[in-house]
Amino acid sequence: MIITVTTQKGGVGKTTTAISIAAELAARGKGVLLVDLDPQGNATIGCGLTNIKDTIVKPMMADINGNFSLNDLTVILRKNFFVLPSNIELANLELMLVSVIGREGVLKRILEPIKNDYDFIIIDTLPSLGILTVNAFAASDYVIVPILARDYYSLQGFDALIESVNLTKRCINPKLEILGEVITMYDSRNKNDKMIANTIRADVRTNVFDTVIPQSTRAAEANRLGKTILEHDCKGKTALAYKSLTDEILARTGG
Ligand SMILES: Nc1ncnc2c1ncn2[C@@H]1O[C@H](COP(=O)(O)OP(=O)(O)OP(=O)(O)O)[C@@H](O)[C@H]1O
Ligand SMILES: [Mg+2]
Repeated sequence: MIITVTTQKGGVGKTTTAISIAAELAARGKGVLLVDLDPQGNATIGCGLTNIKDTIVKPMMADINGNFSLNDLTVILRKNFFVLPSNIELANLELMLVSVIGREGVLKRILEPIKNDYDFIIIDTLPSLGILTVNAFAASDYVIVPILARDYYSLQGFDALIESVNLTKRCINPKLEILGEVITMYDSRNKNDKMIANTIRADVRTNVFDTVIPQSTRAAEANRLGKTILEHDCKGKTALAYKSLTDEILARTGG
């Protein structure tokens, strides 16, 4: 099953969530591939992978040129899960895609031959609803949407996200569903966070996971060290929250 972690909002914990659920699913013995579909390459770097030459750009470019073969696609084993890395070159490819016929289906086509090798493919996206994210939607079964607790404007733009998912459903990928939203960087001592979280839960458009990801400096530390939060602080509140989120994901997907 393929799950995209996305929202057009920046800095809300997409990458941290994608890495953490990939790591936790792998820790439970699932076969996992984490796909970095962000030219910033944060998921790649956050997994401790630096200076990677063979990135997702190579197979995507080959597909655009009509000569993709499995040899173009190099996944990297990172302890117990695999990563399809990215780097800034993906930004050039994104610009090229605009004029390509079948541009929405590039990622889907390159994942097709390997998708049954994994129980879960988790895709991390850039903060945009542009063509790369539409590629992720076209390839996916489910979408998980991180939402920042402390931002009063969190749900602003949520309609655009839903509309983009619905358009993809209608035109490209009928099976796509929003699996749920996850509230991130939550400070339980902050009244404002509590009120906003309640507003998000009460909104008719959402189906928010019960698990809330707490604010923790350990999460940022983990990113910086190229470790997953489960490796960096396995008994900490953020790691425990991501474990509980993984329980909910498995329950909702039947995976
Ligand atoms: N639970 C958390 N508590 C505190 N800081 C966090 C938490 N989760 C993530 N962060 C930090 O917040 C910043 C943004 O997180 P992250 O990179 O996961 O967000 P993003 O949505 O992927 O960002 P972008 O839109 O740039 O891709 C990072 O510095 C990260 O280390
Ligand atoms: Mg990110």
